[in-house]
Amino acid sequence: MWILFLVGFIFLASLAYASNAGAPWVPTWKKDFERINKLANLQPGETFIELGCGNGRVCRAVAKAVGKASPPMPSPLLRGGITRVTSPLTKGEHEGDVFVIGVELSLLQYLIAQLQVKLSGLKNIQMKLGNAFHQDLSKVDVVYMFFMPETYKKIRGKLDKELKPGARVITYVWPIEGWVPVTIDELEGQPKIYVYQR
Ligand SMILES: C[S@@+](CC[C@H](N)C(=O)[O-])C[C@H]1O[C@@H](n2cnc3c(N)ncnc32)[C@H](O)[C@@H]1O
Repeated sequence: MWILFLVGFIFLASLAYASNAGAPWVPTWKKDFERINKLANLQPGETFIELGCGNGRVCRAVAKAVGKASPPMPSPLLRGGITRVTSPLTKGEHEGDVFVIGVELSLLQYLIAQLQVKLSGLKNIQMKLGNAFHQDLSKVDVVYMFFMPETYKKIRGKLDKELKPGARVITYVWPIEGWVPVTIDELEGQPKIYVYQR
């Protein structure tokens, strides 16, 4: 009985910690997945990372849209950073070696995301339990975030410092204060999506 209590406490504590560290869990609307995919405009060989991926639904939608890898891919996450994956993938209409990474701080959300990825059978995707502020973003091509505006202010310096030239940053609902978007995607009745390019 006390084990159940302890596990519940750990889940709730990590959920509260993650809410405080970046944003509470509020999901991106499913009907906006296609907009995000279009705006990300991922090219073969690129890496997409979602910081604060919740249950990983955006990551899975992106991974599905860019294609399913047929052979299992090696982990792109090595100690100390994220490495581009270049293993061959089956070529097809929507296929390419785009790799999708989700980073989540809440243990419960991470475990759900991990399970959903396993069930999906997608190979071009990996979930990672960790803090957005501690990820090496130097090899990433597209960053997607749905955090609070205050969190964008805090993470802006890290993005400025680490992202390579040409990398894109996509934010949902709120802009990054102090940055000028290259695109503001507006659709009546739906949240704005902001695209930035370094
Ligand atoms: C507004 S929700 C968005 C969830 C998901 N990105 C989506 O759009 O459906 C923010 C998520 O970020 C996670 N989070 C908050 N701070 C974080 C941090 N510093 N590092 C990683 N994840 C964080 C929260 O646990 C939550 O799941």
